Amino acid sequence: MDNKELVIRQAKLYDLPAMSRMERESFDSYQGPDELSKELGKSDGSNYLAVAELADEKVGYANIHIVRGESQLYAIAIDSRFRGQGIGEILLSHMIDKSRELGCSIMTLEVREGNTAAIELYKKMGFTEVGRRKGYYKKEREDAILMDKELASIEINLSVE
Ligand SMILES: CC(C)(COP(=O)(O)OP(=O)(O)OC[C@H]1O[C@@H](n2cnc3c(N)ncnc32)[C@H](O)[C@@H]1OP(=O)(O)O)[C@@H](O)C(=O)NCCC(=O)NCCS
Repeated sequence: MDNKELVIRQAKLYDLPAMSRMERESFDSYQGPDELSKELGKSDGSNYLAVAELADEKVGYANIHIVRGESQLYAIAIDSRFRGQGIGEILLSHMIDKSRELGCSIMTLEVREGNTAAIELYKKMGFTEVGRRKGYYKKEREDAILMDKELASIEINLSVE
């Protein structure tokens, strides 16, 4: 895939059917179009949703919640036909940049311990494990891994002699 054709932009209400399809395909505990529609309708700065588009086809979406300077990665999903092509990485990178832009100093997430693809993506993007919720995913009998990434910009101190 030529990533130059990939466009990442803020999600709009008209993206709802595609996002809902990807949500259903990617998550066992999907919330459904009503919840997604509520999320898309918020205009109080408490969240940000983005879609990834490849040649006008919606191939991924992500959702962050902003709580007191913390950006919580609520969801990220790539259409299964387009996984493994670098789109998740570009989309997550966009969400990290956006979190910084929105003034967040940290980004946090929870992931099922068996979700190797997601865990490897998060590690690659600089997230580290900071804790676990034992047996959080009841159906799979798996732990939730808590990860975070500091977003604060680097301070450079120059001293002039
Ligand atoms: C997790 C997910 C978003 C990754 O998206 P993707 O577009 O396939 O990922 P990319 O192609 O950008 O891969 C980026 C990195 O992620 C890791 N990765 C991706 N797929 C992987 C796999 N199947 N196995 C191991 N590592 C994987 C690798 O580190 C990869 O870097 P590399 O190509 O240099 O090895 C995608 O698999 C998905 O939508 N999964 C279902 C939904 C989900 O579980 N979301 C996360 C929980 S909220």
